[in-house]
Amino acid sequence: MKQKLEDIQRMALAEIDAAGDLKNLDDTRVKYLGRKGALTDILRGLAHVTPEERPVLGQLANDVKDIISTRIEARLRVLEEQASAQKTQSDSLDLSLPGRRPRKGHLHLVSQITEEVVDIFTELGFQVASGPEIETEYYNFDSLNISPDHPARDSHDTFHVRPGIVLRTHTSPVQMRVMEKMPPPVAVVVPGKVYRVDYDASHSPMFNQVEALLVDKQVSFADLKGTLLFLAHRLFGKNTKVRFRPSFFPFTEPSAEIDISCTVCGGSGCRVCKNSGWLEIGGCGMVHPEVFRYAKYDYENFTGYALGMGLDRIAMLKHRVNNIHLFFENDVRFLEQF
Ligand code: DAH
Repeated sequence: MKQKLEDIQRMALAEIDAAGDLKNLDDTRVKYLGRKGALTDILRGLAHVTPEERPVLGQLANDVKDIISTRIEARLRVLEEQASAQKTQSDSLDLSLPGRRPRKGHLHLVSQITEEVVDIFTELGFQVASGPEIETEYYNFDSLNISPDHPARDSHDTFHVRPGIVLRTHTSPVQMRVMEKMPPPVAVVVPGKVYRVDYDASHSPMFNQVEALLVDKQVSFADLKGTLLFLAHRLFGKNTKVRFRPSFFPFTEPSAEIDISCTVCGGSGCRVCKNSGWLEIGGCGMVHPEVFRYAKYDYENFTGYALGMGLDRIAMLKHRVNNIHLFFENDVRFLEQF
């Protein structure tokens, strides 16, 4: 029996030391000290030994029990400490880690240019106006003196929504919408999206224009040129020159194409301006009397100028972007450069 007690002690201590977690340790405790445990078994067996042996073996069994209990206590403390250390580690915040900065966004380049152009006009006293992108043929064409069979209707390559309704092909229809609402004098600037069936490196089915309209007594072509020169200097720098090229629009007479000296070579000729030294940025002219007639304006006493420019094109020229689609693909690697 003595041998048996020594075996139990040896095995129990080895198992206690090997217990990897609290559950394991408790199983070991039950196995040796529990009600049906190995040691309890032995103690029960004491009833069958001789009276002389009983106290000696009893003492020994109690000692073994104490040794095992003490070792379990010790192991318990170690395991509990380990568990709590692990929990602290997984729960704790590392305050020394660098923080994650929120990524700041900014206005799209085309929005920046739009704001810039609109600001220049408002500084000159123009008011901002807007109109619908889904427009009637009346406002988009008829009221602008574009007759039903006029080639300008075709050259615009219009998206038709349903009979009589189109996606506006330019911001010019807002001229009429404004004039219908207020008597002269008017000075409005109109930024907005326009649509044409067109697709290549410099044309997108949706693009942005800005329109300006000034109607008053004695408005002249010189006023128009002065405004455009002011605008060009502000947008592209003091050395920029402006040139009018005779042109035709049904809603202006006379009409002109607006050129600025090349933003890349300054006018000496390069690839961007195709060696001409000039870049086209829009169209303009003196408001056609027929347009005033549609607006019910007194065209004997009032004159006006109008102009329309491509905002995406201005952004492209200013930042030397050679493909308009980059603006609308929304690749942040492109957008965040501006
Ligand atoms: N609406 C014309 C276009 O989109 C541009 C234009 C030309 C606007 C002459 C005007 C203007 O106001 O007077 O091609």
